[in-house]
Amino acid sequence: MFFIVTALLCCGLCNGVLTEETEIIMPTPKPELWAETNFPLAPWKNLTLWCRSPSSSTKEFVLLKDGTGWIATRPASVRVRAAFPLGALTQSHIGSYHCHSWEEMAVSEPSEALELVGRDILPKPVLSASPPVRGQKLQIRCKGWLAGMGFTLYKEGMQEPVQQLGAVGREAFFTIQRMEHKDEGNYSCRTHTKRHPFKWSETSEPLELVIKEMYPKPFFKTQASPVISPGARVTFNCSTPHQYMSLILYKDGSEIASSDRSWASPGASAAHFLITSVGIGDGGNYSCRYHDFAIWSEPSDPVELVVTEFYPKPTLLAQPGPVVLPGKNVKLHCQGAFQGMRFALLQEGTQVPLQFQSASGNSADFLLHTVGAQDSGNYSCVYYETTMSNRGSYLSKPIMIWVTDTFPKPWLFAEPSSVVHMGKNVTLWCQGPVHGVGYILHKEREATSMQLWGSTSNDGAFPITNISRTSIGRYSCCYHPDWTTPIKLQPSNTLELMVTGLLPKPSLSAQPGPIVAPGENMTLQCQGEQPDSTFVLLKEGTQEPLEQQRPSGYRADFWMPAVRGEDSGIYSCVYYLDSAPFAASNHSDSLEIWVTDKPPKPFLSAWPSTMFKLEKDITLQCRGPLPGVEFVLEHDGEESPQQFSENGDFVISNREGKGIGNYSCSYRLQGNPDIWSEPSDSLELMGAAGPAAQECTVGNIVRSGLIVVVVVALGVVLAIEWPRLRTRGSETDGRGQTIALEECNQEEDSDSCTSSQSSIS
Ligand SMILES: *[C@@H]1O[C@H](CO)[C@@H](O)[C@H](O)[C@H]1NC(C)=O
Ligand SMILES: *[C@@H]1O[C@H](CO)[C@@H](O)[C@H](O)[C@H]1NC(C)=O
Ligand SMILES: *[C@@H]1O[C@H](CO)[C@@H](O)[C@H](O)[C@H]1NC(C)=O
Ligand SMILES: *[C@@H]1O[C@H](CO)[C@@H](O)[C@H](O)[C@H]1NC(C)=O
Ligand SMILES: *[C@@H]1O[C@H](CO)[C@@H](O)[C@H](O)[C@H]1NC(C)=O
Ligand SMILES: *[C@@H]1O[C@H](CO)[C@@H](O)[C@H](O)[C@H]1NC(C)=O
Ligand SMILES: *[C@@H]1O[C@H](CO)[C@@H](O)[C@H](O)[C@H]1NC(C)=O
Ligand SMILES: *[C@@H]1O[C@H](CO)[C@@H](O)[C@H](O)[C@H]1NC(C)=O
Ligand SMILES: *[C@@H]1O[C@H](CO)[C@@H](O)[C@H](O)[C@H]1NC(C)=O
Ligand SMILES: *[C@@H]1O[C@H](CO)[C@@H](O)[C@H](O)[C@H]1NC(C)=O
Repeated sequence: MFFIVTALLCCGLCNGVLTEETEIIMPTPKPELWAETNFPLAPWKNLTLWCRSPSSSTKEFVLLKDGTGWIATRPASVRVRAAFPLGALTQSHIGSYHCHSWEEMAVSEPSEALELVGRDILPKPVLSASPPVRGQKLQIRCKGWLAGMGFTLYKEGMQEPVQQLGAVGREAFFTIQRMEHKDEGNYSCRTHTKRHPFKWSETSEPLELVIKEMYPKPFFKTQASPVISPGARVTFNCSTPHQYMSLILYKDGSEIASSDRSWASPGASAAHFLITSVGIGDGGNYSCRYHDFAIWSEPSDPVELVVTEFYPKPTLLAQPGPVVLPGKNVKLHCQGAFQGMRFALLQEGTQVPLQFQSASGNSADFLLHTVGAQDSGNYSCVYYETTMSNRGSYLSKPIMIWVTDTFPKPWLFAEPSSVVHMGKNVTLWCQGPVHGVGYILHKEREATSMQLWGSTSNDGAFPITNISRTSIGRYSCCYHPDWTTPIKLQPSNTLELMVTGLLPKPSLSAQPGPIVAPGENMTLQCQGEQPDSTFVLLKEGTQEPLEQQRPSGYRADFWMPAVRGEDSGIYSCVYYLDSAPFAASNHSDSLEIWVTDKPPKPFLSAWPSTMFKLEKDITLQCRGPLPGVEFVLEHDGEESPQQFSENGDFVISNREGKGIGNYSCSYRLQGNPDIWSEPSDSLELMGAAGPAAQECTVGNIVRSGLIVVVVVALGVVLAIEWPRLRTRGSETDGRGQTIALEECNQEEDSDSCTSSQSSIS
């Protein structure tokens, strides 16, 4: 205990002297002196000594201290006593006290002495703190001399201690969470033993805590998100409207970079601190401050730079679900892989993490309160170490949060197409913008609508294998959320599943033809054989029929005005009868439509080869990608005549060597003769190679009269057997055409070289 109060007996000598005097004056009985104690004496309490007299006529009490003498005089109260408050205890209170009572000019004997003994007083501790900053946390350190003491912090003017702490070591840290003006003042501390007997130290020297005048904190942020992958570039932007300031960047409390004052422009100060390629060790808590010659700013808000892709990705879940009614709360549960990490919730499109949370377990829950439309969006989360470098995980897969009271409509489609051949497979997909919900597929019964034919799926895929008549019908789907939120569900579009292969195929043709120039009108005609047919136009690569028509006759005309390049493609059609909707026919033969004013070039080839053999013709075959065209062959160096052919075959004879040379072909549309294709690659026809060919001259040919006759007869045979030698060119031009053919037979001697002329008209 701090003070020990001891009553000492008066010496017998004094007693004897006073006793003798009582024969004259009635002796006033001696008063009683005691200290108001409630040990352990709380040292912030003032010590009060009390003096009380047994005589009711006592008027006043006097307190005296040995060596000091008179301390105070107090009037007696109704209860014949008086209090002597001595103030907060200090070493100076140590000593021996007694009191006297006073009545009608008579003073009593002294009370028995009361001794305040300052024993076991601990040395005073030392109080310190860093300069306080407005709004910031402040730690006040009280350093004592013995380990394991209790510590008490006092503030001048407050009757009770500000804080009390136990400590293991010799010092304790008192914390002011947010330093404000009301916290300014003179502080002191004491230490004391934590258990009986209580020993208190003296009060420390006072520490004056006053918030220094500071500039307001600067604006500080990263230009992109502070959650970044390794190798990315990070720019910190530290700026203040104060001019001519130096700016300093801190990482985890240590200065790492500063800007020169000379960079500062009048009107404002700003600095950009750049990390060109972030490494895993660059993560951490960054902040900045600025200063001029005398005054510093408060530190900026910190930016927690998290470098991702070090730990495995967490998963993010919305509870109760990703669709939330406006005004409700939604919990985003981020499940990580390790304990004691810090978690951040990120919204796509915003640069700053929305919320942080330090977790002791391996997951964190973020609450979005009373959500509104602006909270709709994609969220993801990340977790990271809270040690020096904020090493982070991969970002979670994003989840989309919808704030709505009406579920967005899902979309139902068939893959590969809603028109499926008997026995084939198809997958119906129900897909919507909301993820993480189930789906349910309905099939309409004939006549009645929306008879449930329940089938649920988590990912929205409904495969149907081995399609048959029973698969035919109208389908629609809905979300099938497995949580209870009173949200309106809207059915998807209706999908008509059509099964083909049940009736003979129709025929499809194009008017004016399969090749049309952009901007022209075209009609696709689907011709069936049965009345009461609905015709369906299909295009390869589209999941839905393009158009359906129910004409009164046997033919549907699909009118395609002002066609464009994207109308090109492979078309077909089917039909079904009124008696069996969607039970459709086989596909028509497919028809390729070209919307172009320059159809693709054809391909030219020679049969049997590009080398003329004696007396043999070569057939040039020009092949294009389209039907309904007319081919034309061009021979280099011969401006005319051109040869025309409908089937693309041209018979070339080499009479007089005229067949040799380069050929190319092209085609034009019968329905649109102004449109010409690009010419084919050219093809060179050559005469026979080798020495025999070189001796084969015109002179030789003229001399071999006999053989000429034979070959003329052979030419007639050729004309009969090869009716395709007839060319369109002769009809068009109305004049005969002669093709020279020359060949040297290398098996005979040079004299047998001959020539023949086959005239074809
Ligand atoms: C202690 O005494 C001082 C001066 O007498 C007084 O201002 C203060 O309020 C007292 N404290 C208590 C706790 O009574
Ligand atoms: C702290 O104490 C000193 C000396 O008594 C006084 O001048 C000063 O005003 C006090 N400070 C505060 C903030 O009360
Ligand atoms: C840095 O921040 C300030 C204050 O918001 C802004 O005016 C400035 O344009 C930013 N600089 C860059 C490069 O983004
Ligand atoms: C959320 O992400 C999905 C898929 O990446 C995207 O289609 C959607 O537009 C995004 N939503 C918002 C609001 O950014
Ligand atoms: C960064 O700040 C956060 C929040 O104040 C803290 O939890 C974390 O430990 C700090 N990280 C570092 C590396 O100091
Ligand atoms: C249809 O699906 C079944 C079952 O998945 C499979 O065995 C079959 O080969 C598929 N048929 C076709 C035509 O793809
Ligand atoms: C498909 O269905 C038909 C009748 O509906 C059946 O005969 C055939 O065996 C089935 N094929 C397969 C592969 O299941
Ligand atoms: C449909 O076409 C297939 C093969 O092309 C044929 O075997 C079948 O008989 C046709 N069906 C009808 C109803 O004409
Ligand atoms: C296409 O048809 C429309 C309407 O019948 C007509 O006005 C237009 O001239 C036609 N265009 C061509 C290129 O024939
Ligand atoms: C055919 O074309 C090729 C390549 O352009 C050329 O080398 C050759 O001389 C031409 N032949 C004739 C007979 O013009």
